[in-house]
Amino acid sequence: MKPRVFVTRQLPQEGLKLISEYYEVEVWERYTPPPREVLLKKIEEVDALVSLLTDKVDRELLDRATRLRIVAQYAVGYDNIDVEYATRRGVYVTNTPGVLTDATADLAWALLLAAARRVVEADKFVREGEYWRTGTGWHPMMMLGYHVTGKTLGIIGMGRIGQAVARRAKGFEMKILYYQRHRLPEELERELGAKYVDLDTLLRESDFVTIHVPLTKETYHMVGERQLRLMKPTAILVNTARGAVIDTDALVRALKEGWIAAAGLDVFEEEPLPPGHPLTQLGNVVLTPHIGSATHETRGKMAEIVAQNLIAFCKGEVPPNLVNKEVLNYSPPGFRL
Ligand code: NAP
Ligand code: GLV
Ligand code: GLV
Repeated sequence: MKPRVFVTRQLPQEGLKLISEYYEVEVWERYTPPPREVLLKKIEEVDALVSLLTDKVDRELLDRATRLRIVAQYAVGYDNIDVEYATRRGVYVTNTPGVLTDATADLAWALLLAAARRVVEADKFVREGEYWRTGTGWHPMMMLGYHVTGKTLGIIGMGRIGQAVARRAKGFEMKILYYQRHRLPEELERELGAKYVDLDTLLRESDFVTIHVPLTKETYHMVGERQLRLMKPTAILVNTARGAVIDTDALVRALKEGWIAAAGLDVFEEEPLPPGHPLTQLGNVVLTPHIGSATHETRGKMAEIVAQNLIAFCKGEVPPNLVNKEVLNYSPPGFRL
């Protein structure tokens, strides 16, 4: 008998095909997430779950999951999952690191450049006829933005994605500062051309600040009013990590009152961001709908990684991207059906 897996959204086919060799697969076919009641019901019947960051895998859900042995998250971030509780219940949690690093670093750069050079505002200016109405053509003072080359880039969270962003910054001849809890080996710092500083120094000295930490109890609202006020009035803040790393209300005030110059945001405390949200009313912010890993290539690879994690577990092996290693003390990998 094959174990049963519930997949909470349509994934790229390459992954689903692999999974179905080992599992009886049920996919939630709609574009919108399964309602909470559906998820709470399904979880009672399945041995495995493929979750998205929009699915809350909390105590209430895990308490009902009497058969469940593994949650394979289709993302690298897993702040939607109560990992500690899953571990105590002997439930394996896996994620999809690495394959989305470049795509997400590319998007951080797209947002940085778009915010600095007012690309979205300028597109609108042309598209809506404003450019034509000025009657001028090229003008020395039109749409001036912020210079990027040679400036200082501050990276909060120098992990996989942070490092990929740093590597790209070399082409822009930038000075790189970084902050996280642990300092990188000196050799890697040299290779990246990055200097380790404390968070306040990074905020004070950087022209661009980009966030790449996971959302945890420690990083929740890590950038709030005090931190934003430390930044330069000409600085640009980019967030492709998680919305709640920034205090949104403080950020709106910072952008309105000119404590900082602009922002590029892919992630929000509230997703989807509702129409009319204060952020949507500001001209100096570029907004994207959580598309960091959204390339055809990357999404296909993420589905394959999810499949590899599920298949390894099914074979009684430790999944390659196990998040909660301590679970091995509670129960060995594999189903006993
Ligand atoms: P990673 O390799 O684990 O890097 C995260 C870095 O954050 C680590 O180097 C870590 O260093 C640092 N960090 C963790 N806790 C911290 C704290 N309390 N204070 C300061 N630094 C801290 O992760 P990644 O693969 O680069 O991914 C980073 C995050 O990006 C994910 O967790 C996810 O939320 C987000 N993401 C978003 C998208 C998107 O679509 N927008 C796509 C992919 C990923 P220390 O342990 O030394 O502190
Ligand atoms: C996307 O946000 C991810 O964490 O993979
Ligand atoms: C601008 O188009 C220039 O040629 O400088």
